[in-house]
Amino acid sequence: MNSLAELLNKTLQGTAAYDVLSELGRMLYFPRGIVAQSAEAKKLATKYNATVGMAYMDGTPMHLESIKRYIPELSNEEIFAYAPTAGVAGLREIWKDEMYRKNPSLKEKTVSLPVVTSGITNGIVISSDMFIDPGDTVVVPDMFWGNYRLIFEVRKKARIVTFPFFDSAGNLNTEAMEDTLSEKVKSKKIILILNFPNNPSGYSPVKEEAAKIVSLLNRVAASGKKLVVITDDAYFGLFYENEIYRESLFAELADLNDNILAVKVDGATKENLAWGFRIGFLTFAGKSLSKEHYDALVQKAMGAVRSSISSSSKVAQSLLLKAIKNNQYEEQKEQAFHILMERYLEVKSLMRDYKGNSVIKPLPFNSGYFMTFSVRNGKAEDLRRYLLTKRGIGTISVGTDYLRVAYSSIDKKNLKDLYTEILQASESI
Ligand SMILES: Cc1ncc(COP(=O)(O)O)c(C=O)c1O
Repeated sequence: MNSLAELLNKTLQGTAAYDVLSELGRMLYFPRGIVAQSAEAKKLATKYNATVGMAYMDGTPMHLESIKRYIPELSNEEIFAYAPTAGVAGLREIWKDEMYRKNPSLKEKTVSLPVVTSGITNGIVISSDMFIDPGDTVVVPDMFWGNYRLIFEVRKKARIVTFPFFDSAGNLNTEAMEDTLSEKVKSKKIILILNFPNNPSGYSPVKEEAAKIVSLLNRVAASGKKLVVITDDAYFGLFYENEIYRESLFAELADLNDNILAVKVDGATKENLAWGFRIGFLTFAGKSLSKEHYDALVQKAMGAVRSSISSSSKVAQSLLLKAIKNNQYEEQKEQAFHILMERYLEVKSLMRDYKGNSVIKPLPFNSGYFMTFSVRNGKAEDLRRYLLTKRGIGTISVGTDYLRVAYSSIDKKNLKDLYTEILQASESI
């Protein structure tokens, strides 16, 4: 094993973070090669810096004016230069400050500096590089983003175990979650994915449910199991009802139990309406983890970034940093939130008027981009095809039993027509 990896492992030894590292996670380190040397040269090479594989002219990166003309306010450095492996320092700092502002329960708790990833997907892949070995168990509710299968089962050769997301009363099924973690899965190390607001259901826990999740995870961890809890906060902030728990559960897990490593994956993708920017963040927290431990985890994440995508888009990071510092940022985010909330309220009211039919039934939803119908008799794909080919309406079938509707992408004035079409179509198949 590389001596730098050994050093990082030694730093982490005795913590739950060390115990849950995958084989690859143990091998990861951040090499003191080109990137480290050129970072050093950036500070010290005052005459010529010939370290990094870029082309400079007159002290600024060479570039094509045809690209530059569209981004007039950024400097050449902000647009064209490589971003550091872990991301632009100012952006990582401001994202961390924002995380504390958006999650007041984090107050007095410590977390690592976020590492920039190429979108949230890549953040999840980097975390699974660090913590998942072939054969490990990943627990997710049966309502989950389909890409998890590709990431955990196909890439990492892990085993996905699901539990029912809702109980028969339409509440979050925390009993099934606890039973799965403590009884069904026998292994000592478990990876749990919490994705709220959830894709595809559009559901987030209400305060009582969030408290139940926190105490059940504490019980499972106290029984000796080591949990890596990855909070996929892709849709964070899109909470439309007052009783919803409005923070990331990461904030509660950050110092809950020595046997829990909390891994937060979030990003600009949905929160900042910047889907194509490919900017995500990966942040670690755990009870008793010190700054030294966090730095070791960050370096391992940097090793995974360096050996896969090398670094994320610089221009996107520069634009995002400028936007967050802009005094209209909050107000504009709020405006976008209200547009989505109005769409949500319209769909809620349409569903209240809906008296039910024999084919589809809406599942509970209160947040995010989506709502989902459960479709009787495994006809979800038939309904999707019918809507698409006979009515020109695109929806997503999830497995055989669910139809997901992204009301976030339909103007409020068209929602009534859309849902009328879906309800009529469901009766025709
Ligand atoms: C739950 C969830 N996680 C992650 C992502 C991916 O985010 P990104 O585009 O930043 O990779 C999505 C996007 O659809 C999602 O629904």
